[in-house]
Amino acid sequence: MHILFFSRFFFFFVFLTIILSSKGFASDARCYKIGVIGTGYVGLVLGTCLAEIGHTVTCCDLDTRKIDSLNNGLIPIYEHGLEELVIKNLHDNRLFFTTEVAEAIQSNDIIFITVGTPESLNGEANLDFVFDTARTIGKNLKNPKTIFVKSTVPMGTVQKIKEIITNHNHFNTPFEIGYAPEFLREGSSVNDFMNPDRVVVGAENPDTASLFKKIVAPILKKGAKFLSTSIASAEMIKYAANSFLSVKISFINEIADFCELVGADVDEVAMGIGLDKRIGAEFLKPGPGFGGSCFPKDTLAFLKAAEKNGTSLHVIQAAVDVNDFRPSKIVDRLETMLGSFDRKKIALLGLAFKEETDDVRASPALKLMEIMVKKGAFIQAYDPIAGTQVQNDSPNFEVKASLIEALAGVDAVLLATPWKEFLEFDWTKARLLTKGDLFFDCRNLLDPVTMNEATFELIQIGKKIDRF
Ligand code: UGA
Repeated sequence: MHILFFSRFFFFFVFLTIILSSKGFASDARCYKIGVIGTGYVGLVLGTCLAEIGHTVTCCDLDTRKIDSLNNGLIPIYEHGLEELVIKNLHDNRLFFTTEVAEAIQSNDIIFITVGTPESLNGEANLDFVFDTARTIGKNLKNPKTIFVKSTVPMGTVQKIKEIITNHNHFNTPFEIGYAPEFLREGSSVNDFMNPDRVVVGAENPDTASLFKKIVAPILKKGAKFLSTSIASAEMIKYAANSFLSVKISFINEIADFCELVGADVDEVAMGIGLDKRIGAEFLKPGPGFGGSCFPKDTLAFLKAAEKNGTSLHVIQAAVDVNDFRPSKIVDRLETMLGSFDRKKIALLGLAFKEETDDVRASPALKLMEIMVKKGAFIQAYDPIAGTQVQNDSPNFEVKASLIEALAGVDAVLLATPWKEFLEFDWTKARLLTKGDLFFDCRNLLDPVTMNEATFELIQIGKKIDRF
């Protein structure tokens, strides 16, 4: 009787363990009730992934239309794998979307602040949304809570958020606060969330850091490093990480230009230095400069924050200067090859700031377009995903629905975003469509042999220049 009972119990336990581990949860993983305020890019990915690892998550936003469509499983951004996860977790009742921010604050034990910190006119981070959220949290603090800030904020902001919450906390409810910097990349954010190199949290109270560790336990189980720091260090880590990567990009872009002058190949040089573990192979791809909603904004905000604190960040300033000048340098080079842009038709391939996203914010492709248009060129642009995101207010710029249409009758091609579609295209057939043979691949995406066989005059970045 006892043996039968224990063997049944044992098999039930094994079964339960298999079920839980198949869902990716550690047997000691705890599920929390979490509210996420702000369903922009970071909030939506964070909320969805927290639900996916087992928590019950309510994502809030004041934008009714956005919340309605999210409740129908439609996401407002193009992000690989995200829509499927939203639908799955909505269906499993672990993910909820609402416009009732006060209600979400009151009914959840843990609150993440993920509202935007856009660039203000003077380059500083605009903290209005963050401070508004802090006031709303303070007013609705009816039971103890832990608040984690995820928005990218300058050093000292979390302390200000704490003060604002305290000033509006009329019930004197105890609360803790921490800063958890975000390292997700657009286009691969779900994978980045689930398989990070490290998870960082800044907190005054060690219990706050250990709560964060418990929240992300299923991720840490896969081997990510966990780093607990002071709040000021965590705020600095976010800006320093993005700035360091920006420096790497500007560095390789300058090296690329130098390579051209002495007959070296930048891709070989990047590999040769990147194999040194102290340098690392990532973020050494030359191109038209860094863009997107983070690097350009964060480097500027970091510079401003340093200035406010009476210091200067010369290396980062240099990276920004190199980046600002990058698009015109590329256009100048194309102009030299063409003789002039006057009445020239150019196919601009790619509009998104990088591949696998529909985001065109601070996209180098758009800067290239603007400069070429000013110089008198007519641009036929194409992007596999981001075409509809671009405002078309110039008669000299047209977004085409297909790559074939963009190539029709052009004098030259400028590839600005390294989409897979461009890599897989039949360039021999494409050559029948273009008028000229000049092809400037400023992402070093295409194979020179294939392009040569297709009778294009391929120019890449940081390669030996034969003709020019
Ligand atoms: C960046 C960081 O990589 C993330 O870690 C961070 O979380 C995020 O900012 C943020 O702060 O939210 P993201 O802006 O999505 O992510 O894009 P990246 O993949 O970093 O690329 C940024 C820009 O640098 C793009 O224009 C890209 O084309 C360019 N880049 C990147 C290069 O020109 N060369 C490279 O080798 C790598």
